[in-house]
Amino acid sequence: MNLLELRAIDKSYRRGGWFGNRDRVQVLKKVSLTLGEGACLGLLGRNGSGKSTLSRIALGLEPPDSGQVLFQGRELAGLGRRESALTRKDLQVVFQNSLGSVNPRMTAGQVVAEPICNFESVTKSVLRRRVGRLLEMVGLQASDAEKLPHQFSGGQLQRVCIARAIALKPRVIILDEAVSSLDMVVQTRILDLLAGLRRELGTSYLFISHDIRIILRMADSLAVLHEGEIVGYAEGMEKVGTIQHPLFTALMDAVLHPLPAGMRAVSDSPA
Ligand SMILES: Nc1ncnc2c1ncn2[C@@H]1O[C@H](COP(=O)(O)OP(=O)(O)O)[C@@H](O)[C@H]1O
Ligand SMILES: [Mg+2]
Repeated sequence: MNLLELRAIDKSYRRGGWFGNRDRVQVLKKVSLTLGEGACLGLLGRNGSGKSTLSRIALGLEPPDSGQVLFQGRELAGLGRRESALTRKDLQVVFQNSLGSVNPRMTAGQVVAEPICNFESVTKSVLRRRVGRLLEMVGLQASDAEKLPHQFSGGQLQRVCIARAIALKPRVIILDEAVSSLDMVVQTRILDLLAGLRRELGTSYLFISHDIRIILRMADSLAVLHEGEIVGYAEGMEKVGTIQHPLFTALMDAVLHPLPAGMRAVSDSPA
């Protein structure tokens, strides 16, 4: 079954804010996507192509102008309060800027505990144990629960946000540039962590990034978003070669020739 399905989503914003003219900018144009059970769909697009708008609409945080968002076969817009709360339990998100998406006065433990407390009634000691275990699952220590957001590095705080996102074992996590602001070493560790969690929990990912290397590494199918339109799609990464859009072929060329002429990758060197 398709867990998350976007059908012909249109979205426009008024240009120039409050005092601007009434022109509207079409940010998403008839975007359709489906995310299946256990899948990792990569959404590749340059900055400003509409990726975050799409993720907000998929999460039900903003309505589309037209089109439908279906989660587990049911339209988000038609759900009552209780049902939409239950949907939120199964549909989580990790944004790029974790410092901006957590309350600076809450400890990491409170951040991770929040979704659990919203949906379950657990005793304090059970909650503490679960939070500790979640922090350990993302490579932090249970004692980190006492720390405030500013006491973590960017990569550590991103791990806290991942722990929060997996706390309720959601069926889908939308990762919107979730590792983009981290250095490559931390990026690789967090991508490995996400891949491991996917294997362990069977969660589906909508993996959004402007970075084709990350998408190629993580995704098992790929959609290319360009100026609000899906301009390429490959069901299965072995088919990415069939995507002909110039933006995509230019990006592929760039990753296929990552080293200056004459320089060898470390893995090519004799051991
Ligand atoms: N709330 C908003 N009001 C007006 N314009 C917006 C709003 N949100 C996004 N946009 C515009 O929509 C376009 C796509 O933005 P965004 O979805 O953030 O792209 P991406 O995440 O791919 O960088 C940009 O031109 C941006 O300025
Ligand atoms: Mg964005």
